Amino acid sequence: MNTDLKTIQDIILKAAAAAKEETASEPEPERPKKAKWPISCTVGPGLEGAIACESKVGYVNGAKGWLVYRGYDIFQLAAHSTYEEVAYLLIYGKMPRADELNIFKEKLFNYTRMNSVVRHLMTFPVERMSIMGALRLGVNLMRTEYSDLDMKTALPTSFDAISADEDTIDMETQPHVSKHATYEFKTKSRKSNQKSGREFDRTGGLETSAHLIAGLSCVAAAVSRIHKDMLPLEPKPALSHAANLIYMITGRIPTPIEERVMDISLILHADHGMNASTFATMVVASTLADMYFSIGAGISALSGPLHGGANEEVIRTLRKLASPQTVAPWVDKQLSQKGKISGFGHRVYKAYDPRARILGPLAALIIRQKPELQELYATAQELEKVAMSRFGSEKKIFPNVDFYSGLVYASLGFDDELFTPMFAASRVAGWSARVIEYMEHNRIFRPRGLYIGEFNKTYVPIEKRRHS
Ligand code: SDX
Repeated sequence: MNTDLKTIQDIILKAAAAAKEETASEPEPERPKKAKWPISCTVGPGLEGAIACESKVGYVNGAKGWLVYRGYDIFQLAAHSTYEEVAYLLIYGKMPRADELNIFKEKLFNYTRMNSVVRHLMTFPVERMSIMGALRLGVNLMRTEYSDLDMKTALPTSFDAISADEDTIDMETQPHVSKHATYEFKTKSRKSNQKSGREFDRTGGLETSAHLIAGLSCVAAAVSRIHKDMLPLEPKPALSHAANLIYMITGRIPTPIEERVMDISLILHADHGMNASTFATMVVASTLADMYFSIGAGISALSGPLHGGANEEVIRTLRKLASPQTVAPWVDKQLSQKGKISGFGHRVYKAYDPRARILGPLAALIIRQKPELQELYATAQELEKVAMSRFGSEKKIFPNVDFYSGLVYASLGFDDELFTPMFAASRVAGWSARVIEYMEHNRIFRPRGLYIGEFNKTYVPIEKRRHS
């Protein structure tokens, strides 16, 4: 391994040791066991704390600052694995043998050369479209071309779905009729629906996942070049997925350090429990909409600045601050107006986000060769210091994955508008893995709303209505 790559691996293993030490006093989580539905959990606004399903794909422990993919700790995967291998692990549920990985890599490469999708895309005004918008369009064009992969052979037959319409059971107030409103939870064992579940899994979800992983990278790269009046580039067979992503965006072959940093960033963004975009993807899939429509929902959810769009907000903030000297007054003003500081805070992490623990030092390493970004990095460092001092330890607000990812992508030569699409190009693996897993025992998502409106209002014809 060359010294630069060894340096990167040492950075990650050092971050792992620091994380372990910092959260050692937090209690170890219970060993996982299957849920006995219905289960009770305390639910806050925005489904905070709600348990929507069980999963073996990934695990986040906010107190310990843990992120685990299929049982593997994120620091181990970032130090030793590749995005292709991690995507395979998430989707297939096991580490690939060398021959399996080669087949998967070849599949990804072949799907990345999606010239007809790119050609169709170029008939739209993509030069006036955000890359996230173009990703949504691109996924629809991919669906047109490939949805038969799923649809011709095995559209899953309809699965169990909640029959009662919860809104007609006013659970929040004393029920008018029975003492206790009851839910008819299906008691029959939820054996996986061998026929259609397997078929969907075997012929469609796995193949479609590879197509989408390749497609999101290809479309994001192509549109970013069209935005700069340059033609899209085809991937090179000799390059890895990460290296081809940099090549298809910038037109240059990345250095080993750049390739490795890109690969690690793709690994870090690949899955993260039931975050908003993953949940959106699963909700659409649970209606038996196909994977392309489902991933389209994930792309839409991720684009929001409270979620994946935060990495672009962070870099805009750093550019606006321009130097460390302006940070403290800006933070005080922002917080006094109850504003949010992008790149900080997390619904789950109440410890330092392990992904930021890795991306921060990687940004420092790669920015050493980019003098024009060093002031931006120094501003980020000052922003982290000042924000953490203002939040104080009791709020448990730390930098999250989005705080340093933009600096990493900027140092690779990517424009700001590519940062969230890069998040999507990675997270499509986790979205796909969780859809395939959930379809094994699909149940349409249907939470409840707490009705706090009125009853028994009398209809008044419009001519008699007072204009109130
Ligand atoms: C991602 O879910 C995932 O796993 C997401 C993600 C993934 O991999 O999929 O990790 C990726 O989305 C990371 C988050 C990126 N978003 C941002 O960086 C935007 C800034 N962050 C905040 O908007 C916020 O922290 C959220 C949205 C991330 C979490 O919001 P919550 O859990 O609903 O927390 P909250 O808004 O209720 O805040 C609780 C308190 C509030 O103060 P009080 O009203 O109690 O006094 O903490 C404060 C908030 O004002 N707070 C912040 C803050 N984050 C929380 N104050 C200032 N700046 C912030 N960033």
